[in-house]
Amino acid sequence: MRPQGWIPASCWLGVVSSTQEAARGWVAAGGQVPALIAADWQSQGRGRWGRPWVAPAGKALLFTLATEWPPWPVWWLLGSAVAWAETLEAATGLPVRVKWPNDLLLEGRKVGGGLLEEAKAPSGQRIALLGWGINVNLRREDFPAEWRSQATSLQEATGRPWSREALLEDFLGRLYPIFLKVQRGERESLRRAWLERSETVGRWVRVRLGSQEWEGEAVDLSPEGALILATSQGAFPLPAGEVLSLP
Ligand code: BTN
Repeated sequence: MRPQGWIPASCWLGVVSSTQEAARGWVAAGGQVPALIAADWQSQGRGRWGRPWVAPAGKALLFTLATEWPPWPVWWLLGSAVAWAETLEAATGLPVRVKWPNDLLLEGRKVGGGLLEEAKAPSGQRIALLGWGINVNLRREDFPAEWRSQATSLQEATGRPWSREALLEDFLGRLYPIFLKVQRGERESLRRAWLERSETVGRWVRVRLGSQEWEGEAVDLSPEGALILATSQGAFPLPAGEVLSLP
């Protein structure tokens, strides 16, 4: 991996439990940030809501970027999704959309997902651990059976393999201006960029949060990054949740 000026520490490991945990360890040991840890394989990769994130060795791009905790952390996740959409679209020429809050869709299927967690440096400083898993060279049979109908990879969509390193490098270049905006709290321009790529806003959706579910039209994204849902009981912001269907 070629060094990026704005990320002074980076490494690409063979096997880790999760790049989130490897980055947490780095931060706990007093390592500098921004720092990036990528890996070929994770024995305990995880997605949102504690779900497993599974990918065969060497086929997916799996990494965590540790940075200072930004003023509006949700915009770090949403903004990085926009940077990924730009990266994958520039590479493949195919449209890539973002599904609130953390999915990347290629031809309507999930090609990647992001995860934001918090860690603490020994100084007490709050650190953001932004993890992304991108399905680069997976084949249909590489996906767990229950994911197959909803997931895709770059290779599957384009019929050719892709360099994970080159994609990561392009992504990090596109991410830097977004990183600066997130650190400065420039939410409105981040919001506009996200809305331009949104697969969710303007759709009829079902959203689940814990044991609750709502159905309605996703009408907007608030300055706080919450999805505004218009239901029969009125419109309200959902700060978190899982969009279940986009009929
Ligand atoms: C999701 O869509 O649920 C988020 C998936 C995030 C997966 C990535 S892979 C690299 C990093 N390490 C992990 O254990 N998870 C994230």
